[in-house]
Amino acid sequence: MTDTSFGTEVTARAAQSGANASARFRERMSTAETHTAAIDTARVDYLASKVVKSINDIILDDKVSYEEYNALKTWLIKVGEDGEWPLFLDVWLEHSVEEVASSHRKGSKGTIEGPYYIGGSPELAWDGTIPMRDDEPGTPLLFAGQVRAVDGTALAGAKIELWHADDLGFYSQFAPGLPEWNLRGTWIANADGRYEIHTRRPAPYQIPTDGACGQLIAAAGWHAWRPAHLHLKVSAPGYELITTQLYFPGDPHNEDDIASAVKPELLLDPKDDPSGDGLRVDYDFVLDPEV
Ligand code: DHB
Ligand code: FE
Repeated sequence: MTDTSFGTEVTARAAQSGANASARFRERMSTAETHTAAIDTARVDYLASKVVKSINDIILDDKVSYEEYNALKTWLIKVGEDGEWPLFLDVWLEHSVEEVASSHRKGSKGTIEGPYYIGGSPELAWDGTIPMRDDEPGTPLLFAGQVRAVDGTALAGAKIELWHADDLGFYSQFAPGLPEWNLRGTWIANADGRYEIHTRRPAPYQIPTDGACGQLIAAAGWHAWRPAHLHLKVSAPGYELITTQLYFPGDPHNEDDIASAVKPELLLDPKDDPSGDGLRVDYDFVLDPEV
Protein backbone atom coordinates (compact mmCIF):
# COMPACT_ATOMS: atom_id res chain seq x y z
CA MET A 1 0.00 0.00 0.00
CA THR A 2 1.21 3.47 -0.81
CA ASP A 3 2.19 5.45 2.28
CA THR A 4 0.09 8.60 2.23
CA SER A 5 0.76 9.89 5.72
CA PHE A 6 3.78 12.06 5.05
CA GLY A 7 5.65 15.25 4.43
CA THR A 8 4.60 18.84 4.38
CA GLU A 9 4.07 19.09 0.62
CA VAL A 10 1.49 16.35 0.68
CA THR A 11 -0.21 17.80 3.77
CA ALA A 12 -0.51 21.21 2.12
CA ARG A 13 -2.12 19.66 -0.94
CA ALA A 14 -4.60 17.72 1.18
CA ALA A 15 -5.73 20.85 3.04
CA GLN A 16 -6.38 22.55 -0.28
CA SER A 17 -8.70 19.74 -1.40
CA GLY A 18 -11.29 20.38 1.30
CA ALA A 19 -11.50 24.11 0.67
CA ASN A 20 -11.67 23.63 -3.12
CA ALA A 21 -14.57 21.22 -2.69
CA SER A 22 -16.66 24.00 -1.08
CA ALA A 23 -16.03 26.45 -3.93
CA ARG A 24 -16.79 23.79 -6.55
CA PHE A 25 -20.03 22.74 -4.91
CA ARG A 26 -21.27 26.31 -4.65
CA GLU A 27 -20.45 26.85 -8.32
CA ARG A 28 -22.32 23.72 -9.34
CA MET A 29 -25.44 24.52 -7.33
CA SER A 30 -25.62 27.97 -8.92
CA THR A 31 -25.95 26.69 -12.50
CA ALA A 32 -29.35 26.33 -14.17
CA GLU A 33 -28.79 22.61 -14.69
CA THR A 34 -28.46 21.75 -11.02
CA HIS A 35 -30.53 24.51 -9.45
CA THR A 36 -33.52 23.00 -7.67
CA ALA A 37 -36.70 24.66 -6.45
CA ALA A 38 -36.78 25.76 -2.81
CA ILE A 39 -37.89 23.01 -0.41
CA ASP A 40 -41.45 23.82 0.73
CA THR A 41 -42.10 25.41 4.13
CA ALA A 42 -43.96 22.48 5.67
CA ARG A 43 -41.13 20.09 4.84
CA VAL A 44 -38.46 22.45 6.17
CA ASP A 45 -40.51 22.92 9.35
CA TYR A 46 -40.85 19.14 9.75
CA LEU A 47 -37.21 18.23 9.07
CA ALA A 48 -35.57 21.18 10.85
CA SER A 49 -37.73 20.62 13.95
CA LYS A 50 -36.79 16.94 13.95
CA VAL A 51 -33.07 17.68 13.67
CA VAL A 52 -33.19 20.25 16.49
CA LYS A 53 -35.21 17.88 18.68
CA SER A 54 -32.80 14.97 18.05
CA ILE A 55 -29.83 17.09 19.13
CA ASN A 56 -31.66 18.38 22.20
CA ASP A 57 -32.54 14.80 23.15
CA ILE A 58 -28.84 13.85 22.96
CA ILE A 59 -27.88 16.83 25.13
CA LEU A 60 -30.44 15.87 27.77
CA ASP A 61 -29.96 12.08 27.64
CA ASP A 62 -26.17 12.26 27.70
CA LYS A 63 -25.92 15.29 30.01
CA VAL A 64 -23.76 17.31 27.63
CA SER A 65 -21.68 19.88 29.59
CA TYR A 66 -20.89 23.52 28.75
CA GLU A 67 -17.32 22.38 28.04
CA GLU A 68 -18.58 19.93 25.46
CA TYR A 69 -21.07 22.43 24.04
CA ASN A 70 -18.32 25.03 23.57
CA ALA A 71 -15.98 22.46 22.02
CA LEU A 72 -18.75 21.66 19.52
CA LYS A 73 -19.35 25.35 18.82
CA THR A 74 -15.62 25.95 18.21
CA TRP A 75 -15.47 22.93 15.94
CA LEU A 76 -18.55 23.86 13.88
CA ILE A 77 -17.10 27.33 13.28
CA LYS A 78 -13.85 25.71 12.11
CA VAL A 79 -15.60 23.33 9.69
CA GLY A 80 -16.89 26.41 7.85
CA GLU A 81 -13.63 28.32 8.05
CA ASP A 82 -11.73 25.34 6.63
CA GLY A 83 -14.28 24.93 3.83
CA GLU A 84 -14.89 21.37 4.96
CA TRP A 85 -18.71 21.15 4.99
CA PRO A 86 -18.75 19.12 1.72
CA LEU A 87 -16.19 16.77 3.20
CA PHE A 88 -18.07 16.36 6.47
CA LEU A 89 -21.48 15.84 4.83
CA ASP A 90 -20.25 13.48 2.10
CA VAL A 91 -18.30 11.32 4.55
CA TRP A 92 -20.84 11.02 7.35
CA LEU A 93 -24.30 11.60 5.86
CA GLU A 94 -24.37 11.14 2.08
CA HIS A 95 -24.51 7.32 2.28
CA SER A 96 -27.97 7.49 3.86
CA VAL A 97 -29.25 10.00 1.29
CA GLU A 98 -27.99 7.70 -1.46
CA GLU A 99 -29.75 4.72 0.13
CA VAL A 100 -33.07 6.59 0.12
CA ALA A 101 -32.58 7.84 -3.44
CA SER A 102 -31.76 4.44 -4.96
CA SER A 103 -33.98 2.08 -2.94
CA HIS A 104 -36.42 1.54 -5.86
CA ARG A 105 -33.73 0.46 -8.33
CA LYS A 106 -33.45 -3.04 -9.81
CA GLY A 107 -30.24 -2.44 -11.77
CA SER A 108 -26.66 -1.94 -10.59
CA LYS A 109 -25.99 -0.57 -7.14
CA GLY A 110 -24.77 2.96 -6.69
CA THR A 111 -23.07 4.69 -3.80
CA ILE A 112 -22.04 8.20 -2.75
CA GLU A 113 -20.66 10.75 -5.20
CA GLY A 114 -18.24 12.32 -2.71
CA PRO A 115 -16.87 15.84 -3.03
CA TYR A 116 -14.57 15.49 -6.06
CA TYR A 117 -16.79 15.05 -9.16
CA ILE A 118 -16.40 17.50 -12.04
CA GLY A 119 -18.66 17.30 -15.11
CA GLY A 120 -17.45 17.79 -18.67
CA SER A 121 -14.30 15.66 -18.56
CA PRO A 122 -12.62 14.95 -21.95
CA GLU A 123 -14.61 12.60 -24.19
CA LEU A 124 -12.82 9.46 -25.36
CA ALA A 125 -13.65 6.61 -27.73
CA TRP A 126 -15.23 3.45 -26.28
CA ASP A 127 -11.74 1.99 -25.71
CA GLY A 128 -9.72 5.13 -24.91
CA THR A 129 -7.03 5.88 -22.35
CA ILE A 130 -7.79 8.25 -19.49
CA PRO A 131 -5.88 11.58 -19.49
CA MET A 132 -2.76 11.03 -17.38
CA ARG A 133 0.83 12.21 -16.99
CA ASP A 134 3.58 10.58 -19.10
CA ASP A 135 5.03 9.06 -15.94
CA GLU A 136 1.72 8.49 -14.13
CA PRO A 137 2.54 6.14 -11.23
CA GLY A 138 0.46 3.07 -10.39
CA THR A 139 -0.36 -0.32 -11.88
CA PRO A 140 -1.97 -0.19 -15.36
CA LEU A 141 -5.64 -1.15 -15.14
CA LEU A 142 -7.92 -2.16 -18.01
CA PHE A 143 -11.54 -1.74 -16.94
CA ALA A 144 -13.89 -3.41 -19.41
CA GLY A 145 -17.58 -4.18 -19.57
CA GLN A 146 -21.00 -3.48 -21.01
CA VAL A 147 -23.87 -1.11 -20.22
CA ARG A 148 -27.30 -2.79 -20.42
CA ALA A 149 -30.87 -2.02 -19.45
CA VAL A 150 -32.58 -4.17 -16.78
CA ASP A 151 -34.36 -6.03 -19.65
CA GLY A 152 -30.95 -7.02 -21.09
CA THR A 153 -30.85 -4.57 -24.03
CA ALA A 154 -27.30 -3.37 -24.74
CA LEU A 155 -27.20 0.43 -24.47
CA ALA A 156 -25.19 1.68 -27.46
CA GLY A 157 -23.72 5.13 -26.89
CA ALA A 158 -24.09 4.99 -23.09
CA LYS A 159 -21.89 7.51 -21.31
CA ILE A 160 -19.38 6.38 -18.68
CA GLU A 161 -17.67 9.10 -16.64
CA LEU A 162 -14.73 7.97 -14.51
CA TRP A 163 -12.74 9.98 -11.99
CA HIS A 164 -10.32 8.75 -9.37
CA ALA A 165 -7.37 9.63 -7.18
CA ASP A 166 -3.78 9.13 -8.27
CA ASP A 167 -1.26 6.80 -6.66
CA LEU A 168 -0.81 9.23 -3.74
CA GLY A 169 -4.57 9.61 -3.19
CA PHE A 170 -4.96 13.05 -4.82
CA TYR A 171 -7.70 14.27 -7.17
CA SER A 172 -6.97 16.67 -10.04
CA GLN A 173 -8.59 20.13 -9.75
CA PHE A 174 -8.71 19.75 -5.94
CA ALA A 175 -5.09 19.07 -5.03
CA PRO A 176 -2.81 21.55 -6.79
CA GLY A 177 0.05 20.52 -9.08
CA LEU A 178 -1.85 18.00 -11.22
CA PRO A 179 -2.86 18.47 -14.89
CA GLU A 180 -6.45 19.76 -15.11
CA TRP A 181 -8.14 16.53 -16.25
CA ASN A 182 -5.65 14.05 -14.78
CA LEU A 183 -7.42 10.70 -14.21
CA ARG A 184 -10.80 12.06 -15.34
CA GLY A 185 -12.53 11.03 -18.58
CA THR A 186 -15.82 10.28 -20.35
CA TRP A 187 -16.22 7.17 -22.54
CA ILE A 188 -18.98 6.56 -25.05
CA ALA A 189 -19.93 2.88 -25.23
CA ASN A 190 -19.80 1.23 -28.69
CA ALA A 191 -22.73 -0.25 -30.66
CA ASP A 192 -22.81 -3.23 -28.26
CA GLY A 193 -22.80 -1.00 -25.18
CA ARG A 194 -19.20 -2.04 -24.49
CA TYR A 195 -16.31 -0.02 -23.11
CA GLU A 196 -12.62 -0.65 -22.43
CA ILE A 197 -11.10 1.94 -20.18
CA HIS A 198 -7.33 2.21 -19.78
CA THR A 199 -6.27 3.78 -16.51
CA ARG A 200 -4.15 3.24 -13.41
CA ARG A 201 -5.12 1.47 -10.20
CA PRO A 202 -5.86 4.15 -7.57
CA ALA A 203 -4.38 4.10 -4.05
CA PRO A 204 -6.28 4.01 -0.76
CA TYR A 205 -7.33 7.53 0.15
CA GLN A 206 -7.14 9.42 3.38
CA ILE A 207 -9.60 12.27 3.81
CA PRO A 208 -7.70 15.50 4.59
CA THR A 209 -6.48 15.16 8.19
CA ASP A 210 -5.30 18.70 8.81
CA GLY A 211 -8.62 20.54 8.95
CA ALA A 212 -11.72 20.35 11.12
CA CYS A 213 -12.71 16.85 9.91
CA GLY A 214 -9.24 15.55 10.76
CA GLN A 215 -9.50 17.20 14.17
CA LEU A 216 -12.74 15.33 14.89
CA ILE A 217 -11.24 12.05 13.68
CA ALA A 218 -8.22 12.48 15.97
CA ALA A 219 -10.31 13.63 18.95
CA ALA A 220 -12.59 10.60 18.62
CA GLY A 221 -9.75 8.13 17.96
CA TRP A 222 -11.10 7.18 14.50
CA HIS A 223 -9.10 6.70 11.29
CA ALA A 224 -9.34 8.79 8.10
CA TRP A 225 -9.14 6.06 5.43
CA ARG A 226 -11.32 5.21 2.49
CA PRO A 227 -10.43 2.05 0.55
CA ALA A 228 -8.99 2.59 -2.96
CA HIS A 229 -11.86 3.29 -5.31
CA LEU A 230 -12.94 4.25 -8.82
CA HIS A 231 -15.77 6.81 -9.07
CA LEU A 232 -18.24 6.43 -11.96
CA LYS A 233 -21.36 7.99 -13.40
CA VAL A 234 -23.08 5.83 -16.02
CA SER A 235 -26.01 7.12 -18.07
CA ALA A 236 -28.04 6.69 -21.25
CA PRO A 237 -31.02 8.70 -22.55
CA GLY A 238 -34.27 7.40 -21.01
CA TYR A 239 -32.48 5.63 -18.12
CA GLU A 240 -31.64 6.63 -14.57
CA LEU A 241 -28.08 7.79 -14.11
CA ILE A 242 -26.04 5.65 -11.71
CA THR A 243 -23.43 7.30 -9.51
CA THR A 244 -21.22 4.62 -8.02
CA GLN A 245 -17.79 3.60 -6.76
CA LEU A 246 -15.94 0.33 -7.25
CA TYR A 247 -13.47 -1.20 -4.82
CA PHE A 248 -10.59 -3.69 -4.88
CA PRO A 249 -10.69 -6.95 -2.92
CA GLY A 250 -8.27 -7.24 -0.02
CA ASP A 251 -8.15 -3.54 0.81
CA PRO A 252 -8.04 -3.33 4.62
CA HIS A 253 -10.53 -0.44 4.55
CA ASN A 254 -13.28 -2.21 2.60
CA GLU A 255 -14.70 -3.21 6.00
CA ASP A 256 -14.28 0.10 7.81
CA ASP A 257 -14.59 2.83 5.17
CA ILE A 258 -14.90 6.13 6.97
CA ALA A 259 -17.56 7.18 4.43
CA SER A 260 -19.62 3.94 4.83
CA ALA A 261 -19.86 3.72 1.04
CA VAL A 262 -18.75 0.12 0.34
CA LYS A 263 -21.35 -2.50 -0.66
CA PRO A 264 -20.60 -6.14 -1.53
CA GLU A 265 -21.91 -5.61 -5.10
CA LEU A 266 -19.28 -2.90 -5.64
CA LEU A 267 -16.23 -5.15 -5.17
CA LEU A 268 -14.21 -5.78 -8.33
CA ASP A 269 -12.45 -9.01 -9.23
CA PRO A 270 -9.24 -7.93 -11.01
CA LYS A 271 -6.98 -10.45 -12.74
CA ASP A 272 -3.52 -10.15 -14.26
CA ASP A 273 -4.03 -8.73 -17.77
CA PRO A 274 -2.87 -11.47 -20.18
CA SER A 275 -2.08 -8.87 -22.87
CA GLY A 276 -0.21 -6.38 -20.72
CA ASP A 277 1.81 -5.73 -17.58
CA GLY A 278 -1.12 -4.70 -15.36
CA LEU A 279 -4.57 -5.77 -14.27
CA ARG A 280 -7.80 -6.37 -16.14
CA VAL A 281 -11.20 -6.18 -14.53
CA ASP A 282 -14.63 -6.79 -16.06
CA TYR A 283 -17.66 -5.04 -14.63
CA ASP A 284 -21.04 -4.41 -16.29
CA PHE A 285 -23.61 -1.74 -15.48
CA VAL A 286 -27.36 -2.35 -15.55
CA LEU A 287 -29.56 0.76 -15.77
CA ASP A 288 -33.18 1.19 -14.67
CA PRO A 289 -35.56 2.91 -17.09
CA GLU A 290 -36.53 6.45 -16.08
CA VAL A 291 -39.98 6.60 -14.51
C1 DHB B 1 -14.32 12.06 0.41
C2 DHB B 1 -13.41 11.77 -0.56
C3 DHB B 1 -13.67 10.82 -1.48
O1 DHB B 1 -12.80 10.50 -2.45
C4 DHB B 1 -14.86 10.15 -1.45
O2 DHB B 1 -15.06 9.24 -2.38
C5 DHB B 1 -15.80 10.44 -0.48
C6 DHB B 1 -15.51 11.41 0.45
C7 DHB B 1 -14.00 13.11 1.38
O3 DHB B 1 -12.82 13.50 1.48
O4 DHB B 1 -14.93 13.63 1.98
FE1 FE C 1 -13.18 9.42 -3.79
